[in-house]
Amino acid sequence: MSAGTEADLLLTGIGQLVTAAGPGARRGPAQGELRRIDDAALAIACGRVAWLGPAADWRGRAVQAVDLGGRAVVPGLVDPHTHLVWAGDRYDDLEARLEGVPYEAILARGGGIRRTVRATAAADRATLVASARPRLASLVASGATTVEVKSGYGGSVEAELASLAAIAELAGGARARVVPTLLIHVPDPDRREGQLRDVIERLLPEVVARGLARRVDVFVERSAFTAAEAERVLLAARALGLELTLHADQFHRVGGVELAARLGARSVDHLEVAGPAQIAALASAAATAPSGGGTVATLLPGASLDLGLPHAPGRALIDAGVPVAVASDLNPGSSPVYATSLALALSLRLNGLRPAEALVAGTVNAAAALGLDDVGWLGPGARADLVVVPDPDWRALVAGLGGPGPLEVWAAGVRVDAAADVARNGERAERRAHGSAARVTRRCHG
Ligand code: NIG
Ligand code: FE
Repeated sequence: MSAGTEADLLLTGIGQLVTAAGPGARRGPAQGELRRIDDAALAIACGRVAWLGPAADWRGRAVQAVDLGGRAVVPGLVDPHTHLVWAGDRYDDLEARLEGVPYEAILARGGGIRRTVRATAAADRATLVASARPRLASLVASGATTVEVKSGYGGSVEAELASLAAIAELAGGARARVVPTLLIHVPDPDRREGQLRDVIERLLPEVVARGLARRVDVFVERSAFTAAEAERVLLAARALGLELTLHADQFHRVGGVELAARLGARSVDHLEVAGPAQIAALASAAATAPSGGGTVATLLPGASLDLGLPHAPGRALIDAGVPVAVASDLNPGSSPVYATSLALALSLRLNGLRPAEALVAGTVNAAAALGLDDVGWLGPGARADLVVVPDPDWRALVAGLGGPGPLEVWAAGVRVDAAADVARNGERAERRAHGSAARVTRRCHG
């Protein structure tokens, strides 16, 4: 019912509007179900969707109208796993990998993640934020309007807090919604137990006290933390009200997936080497969770492509009834994927997803992995985050590898110019966002 709807903006000429019908993780056959409206219109008020439906049914009033000329519209993508705040580079590691030295061997000799930790811990906040802005802009230009960003290249308590402060500053100047996560990434070989105590006794409480993150991630791997160590951290985090996520089964099965299922983590990410037992653990957790719940399996096809690893069993996970999400995993050393839409396109080729499943994986299931219910779908009340695909068929977004040409991205009802926002160093974006918020609050109470 659009009669009486007062909108700031009406988008018309939408050849095809495709979205999950509402919030909550989809699993099994439902992962492939999308609502599709041809010749659609979408009304925006106060940065949220006020109405959508067949254009012929619109009876409301809008201050302004924009004709999209028959192009397709999908929800703004949600990228639920990135490491885009780092300093330094990993080009020498890449050269070594191309010569055949394995990623884990590079890490064991102090390179890889440890190289990035040294450079990041030594960088000041302004440097971290300035280098992160174009990376975030690149994900936004590829369709992402919500982006999770992890710390984890700090190492010490102080450097992790500094990384999270940089993420908060980045978020303040961004049009996309940025979701920060504290990542406990690699153990300090000289003081493993001391580091764990620092995390539990000092870092977690400080993160909560300063409001720097509401989620905690631990890398569970032979070359990182054991499942038992991760459990200590995650139980302490949960006791403080934080949500849980894990990196697990990237190289070896060491119990991370089972731990995630047992603790009811929001997501468990990687899963390149997950087998039938791990899939079954996630499937039975999903089957017993309330609808829309269960631990989301987040696939990172950029990482398995870049490292030459087995690709995560996306098809088997969906067929077993596990909700699946897909992320870019943007990081300097193992998934230099600067486009969220490319990660979705790769999931068709590497993980066996179908286009509709990939869109659900990159929107509503990714939002569920982050505990968000107002993004990842389009309908009344959702944030007006959307992608205009330069094609009448939305599947162009995942059919091309880095295609199908420039997207038009709208965040909270405002068209984003990601490159211009970087050039302005985030400041104007911040001021403009405040300005438009002030303009709309006259009629946008509640
Ligand atoms: O998600 N696997 C561990 N963590 C990151 C890698 C980060 C890096 O190589 O710098 C990941 O792939
Ligand atoms: Fe990661």
